[in-house]
Amino acid sequence: MDDEYSKVLDKTKEIVLNVGEIVKEAFEQRENKLSGLEIKENNSSNLVTETDKKVERILNEKLKELFPNYLFVGEETTGESKTNKINLTDKPTWVIDPIDGTTNFVHGFPYICISVALVVNKEPVIGVIYNPILNNMYYGQKGKGSFLNGKSLPLYKNNPLNSLSQSSIMTEYGYHRDPETVDKILKTIRNIVLSPAQAVRSMGSAALNMCHVATGNIDCYYEIGIHAWDIAAASLIVKEAGGAVVGYKRPENLNKDILVCDEPIDILKRHVLCIRCLSEGKNQQSKLLCELREKLIDFPIESD
Ligand code: IPD
Repeated sequence: MDDEYSKVLDKTKEIVLNVGEIVKEAFEQRENKLSGLEIKENNSSNLVTETDKKVERILNEKLKELFPNYLFVGEETTGESKTNKINLTDKPTWVIDPIDGTTNFVHGFPYICISVALVVNKEPVIGVIYNPILNNMYYGQKGKGSFLNGKSLPLYKNNPLNSLSQSSIMTEYGYHRDPETVDKILKTIRNIVLSPAQAVRSMGSAALNMCHVATGNIDCYYEIGIHAWDIAAASLIVKEAGGAVVGYKRPENLNKDILVCDEPIDILKRHVLCIRCLSEGKNQQSKLLCELREKLIDFPIESD
Protein backbone atom coordinates (compact mmCIF):
# COMPACT_ATOMS: atom_id res chain seq x y z
CA MET A 1 0.00 0.00 0.00
CA ASP A 2 2.86 2.35 0.92
CA ASP A 3 4.34 1.95 -2.55
CA GLU A 4 0.99 2.48 -4.16
CA TYR A 5 0.52 5.68 -2.17
CA SER A 6 4.02 6.86 -3.17
CA LYS A 7 2.92 6.65 -6.80
CA VAL A 8 -0.36 8.40 -5.98
CA LEU A 9 1.63 11.15 -4.26
CA ASP A 10 3.88 11.66 -7.32
CA LYS A 11 0.90 11.91 -9.65
CA THR A 12 -0.92 14.26 -7.27
CA LYS A 13 2.09 16.59 -7.12
CA GLU A 14 2.18 16.68 -10.91
CA ILE A 15 -1.53 17.52 -11.18
CA VAL A 16 -1.30 20.20 -8.49
CA LEU A 17 1.77 21.77 -10.16
CA ASN A 18 -0.20 21.99 -13.42
CA VAL A 19 -3.30 23.58 -11.91
CA GLY A 20 -0.94 25.93 -10.07
CA GLU A 21 -0.30 27.56 -13.46
CA ILE A 22 -3.99 28.43 -13.74
CA VAL A 23 -4.04 29.96 -10.27
CA LYS A 24 -0.83 31.92 -10.92
CA GLU A 25 -2.11 33.29 -14.20
CA ALA A 26 -5.44 34.30 -12.66
CA PHE A 27 -3.58 35.91 -9.74
CA GLU A 28 -1.42 37.94 -12.10
CA GLN A 29 -4.44 39.11 -14.08
CA ARG A 30 -6.55 39.96 -11.09
CA GLU A 31 -7.14 43.58 -12.05
CA ASN A 32 -10.53 42.17 -13.14
CA LYS A 33 -10.89 40.75 -9.67
CA LEU A 34 -14.51 41.77 -9.14
CA SER A 35 -15.76 39.84 -12.15
CA GLY A 36 -17.06 36.44 -11.12
CA LEU A 37 -16.63 37.18 -7.43
CA GLU A 38 -19.32 35.71 -5.21
CA ILE A 39 -20.14 36.07 -1.55
CA LYS A 40 -20.90 32.88 0.37
CA GLU A 41 -23.64 32.50 2.97
CA ASN A 42 -24.49 36.19 2.74
CA ASN A 43 -21.19 37.02 4.46
CA SER A 44 -19.10 39.64 2.66
CA SER A 45 -15.90 38.25 4.23
CA ASN A 46 -16.47 34.76 2.78
CA LEU A 47 -15.58 34.90 -0.91
CA VAL A 48 -15.47 32.52 -3.85
CA THR A 49 -14.06 33.32 -7.28
CA GLU A 50 -14.45 31.77 -10.71
CA THR A 51 -10.88 30.48 -10.30
CA ASP A 52 -11.80 28.54 -7.13
CA LYS A 53 -14.57 26.80 -9.07
CA LYS A 54 -12.51 26.19 -12.19
CA VAL A 55 -9.55 24.74 -10.27
CA GLU A 56 -11.80 22.46 -8.23
CA ARG A 57 -13.51 21.21 -11.40
CA ILE A 58 -10.17 20.47 -13.10
CA LEU A 59 -8.73 18.75 -10.01
CA ASN A 60 -11.86 16.62 -9.77
CA GLU A 61 -11.63 15.62 -13.48
CA LYS A 62 -7.88 14.87 -13.47
CA LEU A 63 -7.94 12.91 -10.21
CA LYS A 64 -10.98 10.90 -11.34
CA GLU A 65 -9.26 10.05 -14.61
CA LEU A 66 -6.28 8.56 -12.76
CA PHE A 67 -8.00 7.19 -9.65
CA PRO A 68 -11.59 6.38 -10.65
CA ASN A 69 -12.39 4.59 -7.37
CA TYR A 70 -11.52 7.44 -5.05
CA LEU A 71 -14.31 9.72 -3.84
CA PHE A 72 -14.11 13.50 -3.92
CA VAL A 73 -14.93 16.27 -1.44
CA GLY A 74 -14.17 19.86 -2.45
CA GLU A 75 -14.86 23.19 -0.79
CA GLU A 76 -16.85 24.62 -3.69
CA THR A 77 -18.75 21.43 -4.57
CA THR A 78 -19.79 21.07 -0.92
CA GLY A 79 -20.79 24.75 -0.81
CA GLU A 80 -23.08 24.19 -3.78
CA SER A 81 -24.73 21.09 -2.32
CA LYS A 82 -28.13 21.28 -0.60
CA THR A 83 -26.92 20.23 2.84
CA ASN A 84 -23.56 22.01 2.81
CA LYS A 85 -22.31 18.95 4.69
CA ILE A 86 -19.44 16.57 3.99
CA ASN A 87 -20.30 12.91 3.76
CA LEU A 88 -16.92 11.43 4.68
CA THR A 89 -16.84 7.62 4.71
CA ASP A 90 -13.92 5.27 5.36
CA LYS A 91 -13.32 4.93 1.59
CA PRO A 92 -10.33 6.71 0.00
CA THR A 93 -11.50 10.28 -0.59
CA TRP A 94 -9.82 13.38 -1.96
CA VAL A 95 -10.40 16.36 0.32
CA ILE A 96 -9.60 19.52 -1.57
CA ASP A 97 -9.43 23.27 -1.23
CA PRO A 98 -8.84 24.72 -4.73
CA ILE A 99 -7.61 28.02 -3.26
CA ASP A 100 -6.99 28.32 0.45
CA GLY A 101 -6.67 32.03 1.10
CA THR A 102 -9.33 33.17 -1.37
CA THR A 103 -9.50 36.63 0.24
CA ASN A 104 -5.73 36.99 -0.22
CA PHE A 105 -6.16 35.88 -3.84
CA VAL A 106 -8.79 38.58 -4.42
CA HIS A 107 -6.59 41.26 -2.81
CA GLY A 108 -3.39 40.17 -4.55
CA PHE A 109 -1.61 39.07 -1.35
CA PRO A 110 0.57 36.14 -2.40
CA TYR A 111 -0.20 33.88 0.59
CA ILE A 112 -2.47 31.38 -1.15
CA CYS A 113 -2.31 27.69 -1.95
CA ILE A 114 -3.99 24.69 -3.48
CA SER A 115 -4.52 22.00 -0.86
CA VAL A 116 -5.12 18.35 -1.75
CA ALA A 117 -5.36 15.45 0.71
CA LEU A 118 -6.13 11.79 0.25
CA VAL A 119 -8.08 10.64 3.30
CA VAL A 120 -8.54 6.93 4.10
CA ASN A 121 -10.54 5.73 7.11
CA LYS A 122 -11.09 9.42 7.84
CA GLU A 123 -7.35 9.94 8.26
CA PRO A 124 -5.16 11.87 5.80
CA VAL A 125 -2.50 9.62 4.20
CA ILE A 126 -1.23 12.00 1.51
CA GLY A 127 -1.01 15.77 1.54
CA VAL A 128 0.06 18.22 -1.17
CA ILE A 129 -0.03 21.99 -0.63
CA TYR A 130 1.28 24.32 -3.31
CA ASN A 131 1.71 28.08 -3.33
CA PRO A 132 2.15 28.76 -7.07
CA ILE A 133 3.03 32.43 -6.54
CA LEU A 134 5.99 31.80 -4.24
CA ASN A 135 6.64 28.40 -5.84
CA ASN A 136 6.60 26.49 -2.55
CA MET A 137 5.39 22.92 -2.63
CA TYR A 138 4.83 21.12 0.69
CA TYR A 139 3.94 17.44 0.56
CA GLY A 140 4.01 14.27 2.60
CA GLN A 141 2.88 10.71 2.92
CA LYS A 142 1.88 8.88 6.09
CA GLY A 143 4.93 7.20 7.61
CA LYS A 144 7.28 8.66 4.98
CA GLY A 145 7.92 12.20 6.19
CA SER A 146 7.05 15.56 4.74
CA PHE A 147 8.98 17.96 2.54
CA LEU A 148 9.21 21.50 1.23
CA ASN A 149 10.51 21.63 -2.36
CA GLY A 150 12.37 18.36 -1.76
CA LYS A 151 13.88 19.33 1.64
CA SER A 152 12.87 17.22 4.59
CA LEU A 153 10.72 18.99 7.21
CA PRO A 154 11.13 20.44 9.73
CA LEU A 155 13.80 22.81 8.49
CA TYR A 156 14.14 24.23 12.02
CA LYS A 157 13.62 22.32 15.24
CA ASN A 158 16.39 23.26 17.60
CA ASN A 159 15.07 26.58 18.88
CA PRO A 160 14.20 25.83 22.49
CA LEU A 161 10.56 26.30 23.44
CA ASN A 162 10.21 26.19 27.19
CA SER A 163 7.05 28.20 27.51
CA LEU A 164 4.45 30.13 25.55
CA SER A 165 6.38 33.29 26.42
CA GLN A 166 9.02 32.20 23.89
CA SER A 167 6.55 31.37 21.17
CA SER A 168 5.41 32.76 17.85
CA ILE A 169 1.78 31.76 17.30
CA MET A 170 -0.46 31.97 14.26
CA THR A 171 -4.21 32.20 14.17
CA GLU A 172 -6.98 33.62 11.96
CA TYR A 173 -9.92 35.89 12.70
CA GLY A 174 -12.06 33.63 10.48
CA TYR A 175 -15.38 34.49 8.89
CA HIS A 176 -17.50 35.08 11.99
CA ARG A 177 -19.04 38.52 12.02
CA ASP A 178 -21.49 38.38 14.92
CA PRO A 179 -20.19 40.59 17.76
CA GLU A 180 -20.43 37.94 20.51
CA THR A 181 -18.33 35.42 18.57
CA VAL A 182 -15.85 38.07 17.48
CA ASP A 183 -15.43 39.05 21.16
CA LYS A 184 -14.57 35.45 22.03
CA ILE A 185 -12.03 35.23 19.19
CA LEU A 186 -10.44 38.50 20.29
CA LYS A 187 -10.45 37.43 23.94
CA THR A 188 -8.47 34.33 22.98
CA ILE A 189 -5.98 36.49 21.08
CA ARG A 190 -5.75 38.80 24.12
CA ASN A 191 -5.07 35.82 26.42
CA ILE A 192 -2.29 34.66 24.13
CA VAL A 193 -0.70 38.08 23.65
CA LEU A 194 -0.68 38.43 27.45
CA SER A 195 0.73 34.91 28.00
CA PRO A 196 2.98 36.75 26.83
CA ALA A 197 3.67 35.18 23.42
CA GLN A 198 6.53 36.78 21.49
CA ALA A 199 4.36 37.15 18.38
CA VAL A 200 0.81 36.52 17.19
CA ARG A 201 0.41 36.43 13.39
CA SER A 202 -2.53 36.16 11.00
CA MET A 203 -1.83 35.67 7.28
CA GLY A 204 -5.07 34.37 5.74
CA SER A 205 -4.47 30.72 4.83
CA ALA A 206 -4.98 28.00 7.41
CA ALA A 207 -3.16 25.42 5.27
CA LEU A 208 -0.06 27.59 4.79
CA ASN A 209 -0.06 28.57 8.47
CA MET A 210 0.16 24.89 9.31
CA CYS A 211 2.94 24.42 6.74
CA HIS A 212 4.94 27.00 8.70
CA VAL A 213 4.41 24.92 11.84
CA ALA A 214 5.67 21.91 9.85
CA THR A 215 8.68 23.94 8.68
CA GLY A 216 9.38 24.99 12.26
CA ASN A 217 9.40 28.77 11.77
CA ILE A 218 6.06 29.19 13.57
CA ASP A 219 5.60 27.39 16.89
CA CYS A 220 1.84 26.92 17.06
CA TYR A 221 -1.32 27.57 15.10
CA TYR A 222 -4.92 27.39 16.27
CA GLU A 223 -8.30 28.26 14.82
CA ILE A 224 -11.96 27.52 15.41
CA GLY A 225 -14.15 27.66 12.29
CA ILE A 226 -11.82 25.99 9.77
CA HIS A 227 -13.18 23.24 7.51
CA ALA A 228 -11.85 19.77 6.70
CA TRP A 229 -10.45 20.95 3.32
CA ASP A 230 -8.40 23.68 5.05
CA ILE A 231 -6.58 21.27 7.35
CA ALA A 232 -6.66 17.74 5.86
CA ALA A 233 -3.44 17.94 3.81
CA ALA A 234 -1.73 20.24 6.30
CA SER A 235 -2.36 18.00 9.31
CA LEU A 236 -0.58 15.12 7.55
CA ILE A 237 2.33 17.43 6.65
CA VAL A 238 2.64 18.76 10.24
CA LYS A 239 2.49 15.29 11.80
CA GLU A 240 5.02 13.85 9.37
CA ALA A 241 7.33 16.74 10.31
CA GLY A 242 7.20 15.63 13.96
CA GLY A 243 4.57 18.18 14.97
CA ALA A 244 1.26 17.48 16.68
CA VAL A 245 -2.27 18.32 15.49
CA VAL A 246 -5.18 18.05 17.92
CA GLY A 247 -8.61 19.55 18.59
CA TYR A 248 -9.51 22.29 21.07
CA LYS A 249 -10.49 19.65 23.66
CA ARG A 250 -9.36 16.15 24.51
CA PRO A 251 -11.73 13.65 22.87
CA GLU A 252 -14.06 12.01 25.40
CA ASN A 253 -13.24 8.55 26.78
CA LEU A 254 -9.70 8.56 25.44
CA ASN A 255 -7.31 6.26 27.31
CA LYS A 256 -5.54 8.45 29.86
CA ASP A 257 -2.13 7.06 28.83
CA ILE A 258 -2.41 8.71 25.42
CA LEU A 259 -0.33 11.86 25.42
CA VAL A 260 -2.03 15.11 24.42
CA CYS A 261 0.22 15.39 21.36
CA ASP A 262 -0.96 11.93 20.21
CA GLU A 263 -4.68 12.59 20.55
CA PRO A 264 -6.56 11.79 17.35
CA ILE A 265 -8.17 14.74 15.57
CA ASP A 266 -11.54 14.60 13.85
CA ILE A 267 -11.04 16.76 10.75
CA LEU A 268 -14.79 17.46 10.51
CA LYS A 269 -15.05 19.14 13.91
CA ARG A 270 -13.79 22.57 12.78
CA HIS A 271 -11.24 23.05 15.60
CA VAL A 272 -7.50 22.83 15.20
CA LEU A 273 -4.50 23.34 17.43
CA CYS A 274 -1.02 22.38 16.39
CA ILE A 275 2.57 22.65 17.53
CA ARG A 276 5.88 22.18 15.73
CA CYS A 277 8.44 19.44 16.26
CA LEU A 278 10.42 20.16 19.45
CA SER A 279 13.86 18.83 20.25
CA GLU A 280 12.58 18.66 23.87
CA GLY A 281 10.17 15.91 22.73
CA LYS A 282 6.56 14.85 23.07
CA ASN A 283 6.06 15.63 26.76
CA GLN A 284 7.03 19.23 26.13
CA GLN A 285 4.71 19.40 23.11
CA SER A 286 1.89 18.05 25.29
CA LYS A 287 2.61 20.50 28.10
CA LEU A 288 2.54 23.49 25.75
CA LEU A 289 -0.63 22.28 24.00
CA CYS A 290 -2.33 22.09 27.42
CA GLU A 291 -1.13 25.62 28.28
CA LEU A 292 -2.46 26.89 24.98
CA ARG A 293 -5.80 25.09 25.44
CA GLU A 294 -6.31 26.97 28.70
CA LYS A 295 -6.19 30.25 26.76
CA LEU A 296 -8.70 29.24 24.05
CA ILE A 297 -12.27 30.42 24.35
CA ASP A 298 -14.48 27.83 22.73
CA PHE A 299 -17.86 28.45 21.12
CA PRO A 300 -20.39 26.07 19.59
CA ILE A 301 -19.87 25.43 15.90
CA GLU A 302 -21.61 23.04 13.53
CA SER A 303 -19.40 20.22 12.24
CA ASP A 304 -18.71 19.89 8.52
C1 IPD B 1 -10.04 30.08 4.83
C2 IPD B 1 -8.63 30.51 5.14
C3 IPD B 1 -8.65 31.43 6.34
C4 IPD B 1 -9.26 30.76 7.56
C5 IPD B 1 -10.63 30.20 7.24
C6 IPD B 1 -10.55 29.30 6.01
P1 IPD B 1 -10.61 29.80 2.23
O1 IPD B 1 -10.09 29.26 3.68
O2 IPD B 1 -7.82 29.42 5.40
O3 IPD B 1 -7.36 31.80 6.69
O4 IPD B 1 -9.42 31.70 8.58
O5 IPD B 1 -11.07 29.45 8.36
O6 IPD B 1 -11.83 28.78 5.73
O7 IPD B 1 -12.02 30.26 2.39
O8 IPD B 1 -9.71 30.89 1.83
O9 IPD B 1 -10.50 28.58 1.37
